Amino acid sequence: MELKAVRYEVTENEAGHRIAVIRIARPEALNALNKQVLSELKILLQELGSKRDVRAAVLTGEGDKSFVAGADIKEMENLTMPQARELALQGQTLFSKLEELPFPVICAMNGFALGGGFELALACDFIIASSKAKWGLPEVTLGLIPGYGGTQRLTRQVGRALARRIAMSGEMFTAQQGLDFGLFTQICEPADLLPTAMKVATTIASRAPNAVAWVKEAINHGGDKSLAEGLKIEADLFARTFETKDHNEGIAAFIEKRPANFQGN
Ligand code: CAA
Repeated sequence: MELKAVRYEVTENEAGHRIAVIRIARPEALNALNKQVLSELKILLQELGSKRDVRAAVLTGEGDKSFVAGADIKEMENLTMPQARELALQGQTLFSKLEELPFPVICAMNGFALGGGFELALACDFIIASSKAKWGLPEVTLGLIPGYGGTQRLTRQVGRALARRIAMSGEMFTAQQGLDFGLFTQICEPADLLPTAMKVATTIASRAPNAVAWVKEAINHGGDKSLAEGLKIEADLFARTFETKDHNEGIAAFIEKRPANFQGN
């Protein structure tokens, strides 16, 4: 199936490392997540999940105004209760798939990231935002609550008080506030956003891919558990790195005082 509302390309950098750039491309509706975008995103995630050679991805929105302005409000107009539950579960499942990709996904938040759009950003590994980004969970202004994981991922990210403040007010926040709240790792001028995200992706892509994937796994799976359980997950994954060729290469490169050349095995 040809993808129209979600575009993606895989770029190969000088070192031969492959980085995917994904764009939500429905600019006429500020990239709002309608059925088409969700089903294309599902197809794309299936494809990306099977690509063992992709080392990182950057997710952004088409155009210079919006990352994603939320779930498509017009499509929600006449939903019944079972249909609404189905929609939430569909979006949640999709965003969890994104979160579980075996490589990091960096959100390059290029503008509005509201409701489902902000929830999509929260399912990425981290967020680099344009200074023009405006974000929030405005669902309560529509008589709704976040349905694509917002109450859960936001709480885990910033704690209960801030999550309540953000989701109960429905207010729009600035990029600087996102940085202050610990939600964004960096803010850039709009023109620098993609180059910056690509630069960070390039650095990550140069590291041992299994090690990066297992850092992701340890943080995602250990972060919500007790410290003892989280530490066990970390120890198990640390041990697994000793079965990889890349750990031999990394240690040898250090001893031989040369850059490591990781093959992802
Ligand atoms: N759904 C459907 N269409 C949307 C949309 C959305 N979430 N956001 C914007 N659009 C459409 C507008 O209807 C408009 O289309 P028309 O030209 O056909 O009228 C077009 O995009 C441009 O939008 P505006 O004219 O409104 O642009 P603006 O610059 O004046 O305002 C905005 C920008 C503040 C982001 C405003 O569009 C807005 O408030 N959008 C809705 C944001 C929102 O409430 N998102 C949460 C959705 S609910 C949700 O996501 C539930 C969940 O958790 C699953």
